[in-house]
Amino acid sequence: MIRFWGWRGPISPLIYLSSNLLSLAGVAIVTTAAVFWMFLLPTTLSGEITHPYIGILVFLAVPAAFFFGLALIPLGIWLRQRREHRKGLYPTSFPPSNWQNRELRRLVYFVGATTFANLVIASQVTYGAVNYMDSVTFCGQTCHTVMQPEFTAHQNSPHARVACVACHIGPGASWFVRSKISGTGQVFAVLLNNYPRPIPTPVSNLRPARETCEVCHWPAKFGSDRLEVIPSFADDEANTLTKTVLLMKIGGGASGTGIHGVHVGAGVRIRYAYSDQARQTIPWVEYSGRDGRTTVYQAAGTKGPGALPIREMDCIDCHNRPTHIFQLPERAVDSAMAAGDISPSLPFVKKESVEILRGNYASREEAAARIPAALAGYYRQHYPALEQQRGPEIARASRALVGIYDRNVFPAMRVSWGTYPNNIGHNDFPGCFRCHDDAHASADGRKITQDCGACHNLLAMSEPSPKILSDLGLADAAK
Ligand code: HEC
Ligand code: HEC
Ligand code: HEC
Ligand code: HEC
Ligand code: HEC
Repeated sequence: MIRFWGWRGPISPLIYLSSNLLSLAGVAIVTTAAVFWMFLLPTTLSGEITHPYIGILVFLAVPAAFFFGLALIPLGIWLRQRREHRKGLYPTSFPPSNWQNRELRRLVYFVGATTFANLVIASQVTYGAVNYMDSVTFCGQTCHTVMQPEFTAHQNSPHARVACVACHIGPGASWFVRSKISGTGQVFAVLLNNYPRPIPTPVSNLRPARETCEVCHWPAKFGSDRLEVIPSFADDEANTLTKTVLLMKIGGGASGTGIHGVHVGAGVRIRYAYSDQARQTIPWVEYSGRDGRTTVYQAAGTKGPGALPIREMDCIDCHNRPTHIFQLPERAVDSAMAAGDISPSLPFVKKESVEILRGNYASREEAAARIPAALAGYYRQHYPALEQQRGPEIARASRALVGIYDRNVFPAMRVSWGTYPNNIGHNDFPGCFRCHDDAHASADGRKITQDCGACHNLLAMSEPSPKILSDLGLADAAK
């Protein structure tokens, strides 16, 4: 036996025990993963990985293999030791285990050195993995069907350069851990294919917006009123254009006035009870103002919050679509026409476009084929001469329509026109009028106002050429 050890070399039992299939496989896997990792290092260091599958390989598959291999080595050793103990083959005498034992010393050095090397590799690998899981690529594209609606909308929004995690997780360790825990559940839901379609809104466990949005937008900053010009094309042959001009009283800052000052200004707290999952029906509102007074407003015919869930109002009760902005077909076509992507001189183009967009298509591919055919077909049938002369313009309009469809309708996720309500405004969805409906009253008879001048000055309403715009030198302005 002793002689057997002799030629086996200095790191006696370990080397002996580790020459088993499982541990050797582990060693092979670890080395392969390490080599792979080194080869991928230049890609990793050169910046964000933009292809989701390369990302999965670099940051998830390679590290997983590395740690799997690492775990196999001691497992093989342990299994072999147990097996040989059972059969009585395990050597009984090893050199004494003290620091004078050269073999033991070497073993300690060896383990120390490999652990160090592994730590260096592992720290790099996990750091990369964590960063990758926080990237827009991972959030938006890895599970592409699931996140496609939100990812597409995000890419076309004012926040296209803001990472998903800036709003969905925000700064600090505790929300980071919470998100990783709920994220694991979501990954399983995707693997098992039992995630909800569409993904429900609101996000039930979203971090309070004031801890995320205010990293970039601080309430003391907003203030100035904002002029909004909203173009609208009619359903007639001439697609008659009218404009609505509003001066939004955004307010805020230290003054505590305007829309922001009243709801999220310093010292203000609004709580409300909602009776549907989407928070579209709000029977009870409690307002604690800057003067320290608390007023309760009750929708007509309802009593107290009862057992309803209560929520503290924050940014996303109005800005629930700061980045996942889905449009309704009328609005989307208006913007495309105002931008010139759909020529307003094509007869009935507004009416036809909206009808075509509202059609039923089983998939995006089907829509991409049928939408252009439908528009061209309409002009061929009703305006044959025009179809001949202005083919390219009609084709351009069709491309704009397909683009609008692709940004807003996702049959695979059952997301269609209006699936996700937008709480800013009151024309397309209840929005502000969930509370400001002139039906929420306090015990002393005050109401949450529906006064048309409270939130905006209506400078012009659906006028062909609003005087205010020419006074301001903005006669050509669209939104
Ligand atoms: C500017 C902040 C912001 C960014 C950036 C952002 N989101 Fe969101 N997200 C929101 C808000 C706000 C909601 C709605 C929350 C609510 O109403 O409870 C939301 C909702 C969602 C929902 C639920 C469905 C829905 O539309 O309401 C999903 C899924 C989602 N986001 C995924 C993503 C992904 C993926 C990214 C990155 C590509 C991303 N988000 C980037 C703010 C953001
Ligand atoms: C990482 C920084 C960052 C975070 C976090 C962030 N935003 Fe923004 N937001 C911006 C920037 C930058 C712009 C300006 C974009 C532009 O002008 O094109 C902007 C623009 C906006 C606008 C104006 C959009 C428009 O149409 O002009 C609104 C509203 C807004 N953000 C709301 C929010 C809300 C609500 C949240 C939290 C859910 C949030 N933001 C989180 C950086 C951020
Ligand atoms: C009561 C509803 C409401 C709440 C709550 C609210 N906002 Fe706004 N906010 C608005 C409206 C309305 C506008 C005007 C822009 C529009 O109509 O789209 C606006 C505009 C903005 C703008 C664009 C400002 C500009 O000058 O163009 C930013 C940024 C913004 N909000 C951030 C926030 C943040 C951050 C919070 C939370 C601290 C918040 N808002 C809370 C209703 C609200
Ligand atoms: C959850 C209910 C709720 C929603 C939703 C809501 N508000 Fe309010 N709002 C209130 C309450 C409560 C008050 C204050 C009433 C008081 O002064 O006691 C208020 C006051 C205001 C005021 C001041 C009115 C005045 O003359 O003093 C403005 C402006 C305003 N809201 C704008 C908006 C806008 C714009 C939206 C939608 C983007 C909106 N609100 C959505 C509850 C709400
Ligand atoms: C509680 C605040 C509030 C009150 C009260 C209010 N509005 Fe508005 N209104 C808004 C907001 C917010 C928008 C959205 C602006 C935007 O699109 O960014 C809006 C948009 C509009 C628009 C533009 C519609 C479009 O095509 O986009 C019109 C018109 C309008 N309001 C008319 C009225 C009239 C008329 C009244 C009185 C009955 C009224 N509003 C009361 C907050 C209010």
